[in-house]
Amino acid sequence: MKLDRILPFARKLLMQAITDGDIVVDATTGNGHDTLYLTELVGETEHVYGFDIQEEAVKSTTARLKEHHFLNRATIVQKSHDSLQSEIPVSHQNKITAAIFNLGYLPGGNKEIVTKPETTIAAIEQLLKVMVPEGIIVLVIYHGHEEGALERDVLLDYVTKLDQQKAHVLNYRFLNQANNPPFIIAIEKR
Ligand SMILES: C[S@@+](CC[C@H](N)C(=O)[O-])C[C@H]1O[C@@H](n2cnc3c(N)ncnc32)[C@H](O)[C@@H]1O
Repeated sequence: MKLDRILPFARKLLMQAITDGDIVVDATTGNGHDTLYLTELVGETEHVYGFDIQEEAVKSTTARLKEHHFLNRATIVQKSHDSLQSEIPVSHQNKITAAIFNLGYLPGGNKEIVTKPETTIAAIEQLLKVMVPEGIIVLVIYHGHEEGALERDVLLDYVTKLDQQKAHVLNYRFLNQANNPPFIIAIEKR
């Protein structure tokens, strides 16, 4: 048997959580690979909300969705993910079943623009408040760069202290690989 690698495992979690008609969140759209995957999972009937602070990322994600004729299944917002509660209509907020945060910097973009633990945590808190019970939040942590290592530590501290009555927290990580490969934290709202 081959163990799931990190990115396939993140997608497997999302696939298991999402069914046709759900509302889902891509909290860091970047070049739109995850957004496209999510639009395929939600189907015709419901919607993906995507967030990124960079115009370049929003353009790239929009172009990718357009190319695949899925633009109508998504709303891409050029704002920080911690504005999700004010950006997603209230009627959709309590239908959110999954969210993905692919942390770090935009591949091929400005490496100085990175996700920050304060806004990541603020967005997680909002999701935990509104999403459906058993909704899943998947964090892919890239800690090979200096700020990524800092973010990793703050996030691990935060999730470790989450009340177990409110959430189950999973850490999926290869322990013997060189060069700080990414790993997953998955949070299931109870
Ligand atoms: C690793 S990339 C995401 C890759 C993306 N999932 C893909 O498929 O290409 C991280 C992205 O997070 C974005 N970002 C940084 N801070 C953010 C914030 N506060 N809210 C939303 N996006 C943010 C960056 O601009 C960058 O595009």
